[in-house]
Amino acid sequence: MGHSESTAEMYRVFNTAAGIYDQSGVEFFGPIGRKLVEYSGIGPGESVLDIGCGRGAALFPAADVVGAHGEVIGIDIAEEMVAHAEAGAKDRGLRQVTVRLMNGQAPAFPAARFDAVIGSFSVFIWTHGAPELRPYVPLLRPGGRFAASAPSFFPTATGKWGFLPEAVHDLLLPHLTKPKEGDAYDCPFANIHNNWLVTEEVVGATLTEAGFADVEVREEALPIVVESGAQWVEWTRSHGMRRLWDRLGEQESRELAEEVSGRLDALRGTDGRITLPTPIVYMRARAPRA
Ligand SMILES: C[S@@+](CC[C@H](N)C(=O)[O-])C[C@H]1O[C@@H](n2cnc3c(N)ncnc32)[C@H](O)[C@@H]1O
Repeated sequence: MGHSESTAEMYRVFNTAAGIYDQSGVEFFGPIGRKLVEYSGIGPGESVLDIGCGRGAALFPAADVVGAHGEVIGIDIAEEMVAHAEAGAKDRGLRQVTVRLMNGQAPAFPAARFDAVIGSFSVFIWTHGAPELRPYVPLLRPGGRFAASAPSFFPTATGKWGFLPEAVHDLLLPHLTKPKEGDAYDCPFANIHNNWLVTEEVVGATLTEAGFADVEVREEALPIVVESGAQWVEWTRSHGMRRLWDRLGEQESRELAEEVSGRLDALRGTDGRITLPTPIVYMRARAPRA
């Protein structure tokens, strides 16, 4: 697979994280994947493409919905993710699932191949606007469904990025956004106040510009519940945010992790746990009816 430098960096991050991805005991990608499948409106017997399927957070719920007479194809750029998703499908006896190593930026399928195309916490990673969403429209039969989830960048009351817990926002944001020499990764994180996920209106207009119809967008908070600040930090190392830690030296990383853990520990509730409401955006649309 020939990758641009940016795509190669995404590949590195996720291929490295695949073994621990979504395995930290923090409920996050699972509930989002299940909600996305429900929101997407896919039904029994349908043919579904899951772009950036990872270990299967949306893939398996989609397979349950389409049933034995349907079909779900998951694609991912990271072979370690593909291997885990294949193993998960086998363990669950989901014979309607196929997983393929493929770059989601250039999905190689015939026109009108799918009833639905979904992407949970994936498509936003390499999408800066309508041009990168446009290739998904012709994959759908006329009237077919597109649905995706992403971290929300919608404005919050404090003007901070709601995805990061307020107590550690200012500590972490600079490390996520700061360009680093030789770092080619240019996901929307690098431009937190100017990307296509900034408001409901911009998300809707971007999907419409890409060629979708019947666009709907909604933001919903998912409470992330952790036993300790250290568990939240471990969780951030198990997915795309691991880049933040990878870019720091050993000492800086240790000191930052301690500071973040301590601040989050101070938020412990009466149940002894830390609950962090985290805004998620869900979007759905249809391919134009012919
Ligand atoms: C945050 S994970 C989400 C995985 C899964 N959908 C879930 O909800 O758990 C992002 C996934 O997108 C994949 N990915 C990143 N860039 C990709 C690309 N260009 N093409 C296909 N998959 C990609 C990563 O390997 C990773 O599995």
